[in-house]
Amino acid sequence: MKNIAVLTSGGDAPGMNAAVRAVVRTGIAKGWDVYGVQHGYAGLMSGEMQVMGQRDVGGIVQQGGTILGSARALEFKTEAGRQKALRELHKRDIGGLVVIGGNGSQTGANALTEMGFPVVGIASTIDNDLYGSEMTIGVDTALNIALEAIDRLKITASSHQRAFLLEVMGRDCGYLALMAGIAGGAEFISIPEIPTEPEDIAKQLFASYGRGKKHSIIVVAEGAKYDAAALVTYFKEHHADLGFELRATILGHIQRGGAPTAFDRILATRLGAAATAALARGEYGVLVGMNKSAITTTPLSVVVANKKSLDFTLIDLQKELDG
Ligand code: F6P
Repeated sequence: MKNIAVLTSGGDAPGMNAAVRAVVRTGIAKGWDVYGVQHGYAGLMSGEMQVMGQRDVGGIVQQGGTILGSARALEFKTEAGRQKALRELHKRDIGGLVVIGGNGSQTGANALTEMGFPVVGIASTIDNDLYGSEMTIGVDTALNIALEAIDRLKITASSHQRAFLLEVMGRDCGYLALMAGIAGGAEFISIPEIPTEPEDIAKQLFASYGRGKKHSIIVVAEGAKYDAAALVTYFKEHHADLGFELRATILGHIQRGGAPTAFDRILATRLGAAATAALARGEYGVLVGMNKSAITTTPLSVVVANKKSLDFTLIDLQKELDG
């Protein structure tokens, strides 16, 4: 192999740049030309890619986001879109592609693999919902941002004896909500995997108030059966008095910005290096991830066919800890 390409796709995640840097530098060390593709699969289809040098990835390890840009490209879901991308790759004699992204991105990577092109995926999404890697790039940073929000909200909540609904990201997966809730000592956690009725939350609020608590923090994943906005509407209609006064904060994309933590930079660097190593030894159609602290590879076909599950015992633990 002489040339490879690297792209970042889907929702950006803090640490993506560290992964790009590792792919570029370890690729150059192997004697390859490494093309950086702009705007994910969209740029791959339109041929927006340039050879990157050592200096092009200097000073980016500490930056959140992705210097390559990212996108969600609907056209790539079609056979015609993927054929376009393959033409652009062949034009430049590119023999391998590294895809840094989450579920949707690795589904695209698997589709290219099935068309016979050598692809290696790198597990990256703040949602931590990708099968094949216990931790994905960006999760640790996003979790720490959510945790800081809980800590801050607790202070003002206690001053006013209020309850706060904090909505964190996680469309289909409650990992961020669960872990931030446990780390921050939340009173209740609502996640998509366990559909929760507003009355369960109301009961919890009354009970906390009755026990003399100064505050109550309810962490809600955006994909929960009732998100923060729906809960606010419900409580307005059904409960004039919940004990606590209620406020809601939606953290949103704040969780995706900011500098990556040391954990995310190291994970991304190890995965970037592992991706070029896999391409060099001819191991294609796999996702590089981290399991039990070791760097592993899992076939992309297995990654896209399976759903990662949460450790539900942690929900029971959180309930036990609520004093
Ligand atoms: O997949 C990562 C994620 O941040 C989800 O948690 C969230 O639902 C989604 O991306 C938001 O997507 P967008 O940036 O396109 O609004």
